[in-house]
Amino acid sequence: MKKIYLYGNWKMNMSLSSTASFAQDFLQALREEAALTENTEFCVFVPFTLIHKAVQEFRPFAVGAQNVSEYDSGAYTGEVSADMLKELGVNTVIVGHSERRHIYGESSQQVGDKAAKCVENGLVPVICVGETLEEREAGKTLEVIREQLDAAVEKLPDKARYLIAYEPVWAIGTGRAASAQDAEEVCAFIKQRVNEPVLYGGSVKPSNSAELFSQPSIDGGLIGGASLVAKDFIAILKNYRNTCV
Ligand code: PGA
Repeated sequence: MKKIYLYGNWKMNMSLSSTASFAQDFLQALREEAALTENTEFCVFVPFTLIHKAVQEFRPFAVGAQNVSEYDSGAYTGEVSADMLKELGVNTVIVGHSERRHIYGESSQQVGDKAAKCVENGLVPVICVGETLEEREAGKTLEVIREQLDAAVEKLPDKARYLIAYEPVWAIGTGRAASAQDAEEVCAFIKQRVNEPVLYGGSVKPSNSAELFSQPSIDGGLIGGASLVAKDFIAILKNYRNTCV
């Protein structure tokens, strides 16, 4: 049974009270079906304001952050440093999510700096890469992925631990996931270049996880919308596991 990373990206959603009730449902469901925790790495990436609460509520499972500054400290209003995240009990951070790249104009260079800052501080970056629909239709998918990937990892030390999340921009929040074949093609390309765990993200849900996670180069999912309800989030793993027996 291969190891599966079930990573939930809450984006700018949830509150202190819904974090507590999600965690209760999540932990209860895993107590009832402890086999689901075998060979699974869970992490929920919550807004900064919920980290403290989530770390307490999700114990012993991991809580991640959705962004980090590329700087250590100083006059960077509104930013949060790797050190600050570590202090809160975070050990994994999403960097370069397409919403950061496209809405906030983060460059591949900046994503590389953020990933390097994570590693320098003992945090594991989950580096997101993905093409737009226009780029896919122009046949540029692998070229775009290569450019984003190389810029993101070039400043990392040789033995750095990190993950890559392949998230085609056109599949995020649209209900239209990449086909398992298309996702596998890109994830295999990534794996050949970096040999680290590769997650697929973009409209992952209970109905498509079995096919996606069964692909040889896909090690799990970075899940947005379907990670906001504990039973849906867990059903994503359950449905995949049911196909493995
Ligand atoms: P989605 O988001 O599952 O809602 O498509 C995935 C992501 O943006 O990480």
